[in-house]
Amino acid sequence: MLSLGGKRNPDVWWLPSGEGGIVIKDFAPRPAWVRATVGRWVTARESRAWSALDGHPAVPRFLGGIDPLAFAVEYRPGRRLSSARGVGPDFLEQLEVALSEMHARGVVHLDLKHRDNILEADADGSPVLIDFGSALVFKRGGLGARWFLPWLARIDRSALRKWQRKLGGSHR
Ligand SMILES: Nc1ncnc2c1ncn2[C@@H]1O[C@H](COP(=O)(O)OP(=O)(O)OP(=O)(O)O)[C@@H](O)[C@H]1O
Ligand SMILES: [Mg+2]
Repeated sequence: MLSLGGKRNPDVWWLPSGEGGIVIKDFAPRPAWVRATVGRWVTARESRAWSALDGHPAVPRFLGGIDPLAFAVEYRPGRRLSSARGVGPDFLEQLEVALSEMHARGVVHLDLKHRDNILEADADGSPVLIDFGSALVFKRGGLGARWFLPWLARIDRSALRKWQRKLGGSHR
């Protein structure tokens, strides 16, 4: 188990499947009122975000919905960000590009200040974005994408500035 959900959060599992395993986020063990409400809403919204980001190089692959309360994504092994350990010289620039590419696909993450939601890939030290439980998706070219997305994207960019401040002086 990667994370035991609280009263209103999904359990997060790693399962051996394919090359590096898969991750499943599942609201099934939550109380009935959570399953009937936030459980389905959050699962649908998060699945939409993963789906919109399919093919984004810094985002694990979306493997699909399982039922209205659960979905699966590729497991991408990585480490938590740490200012003590530092990051590679290209990491912050790659993170900035990854955020712009995400916004270009109509997705705002909104929870990137959380240390657990950006990993440093074991494979090549590049950023990996996960946990789209708070994300919003806007239809490309739609009114929301034109009016709200640029405004909300500032929240993600302020998280970027936080990581630039914390990790900027600690190149390996
Ligand atoms: N695709 C993935 N590849 C690698 N690790 C992952 C992936 N998805 C989730 N994890 C790991 O599982 C943890 C929990 O997943 P996630 O953040 O999506 O769920 P959560 O409900 O927000 O849980 P938490 O409240 O613990 O953050 C992550 O912090 C990360 O360590
Ligand atoms: Mg999380």
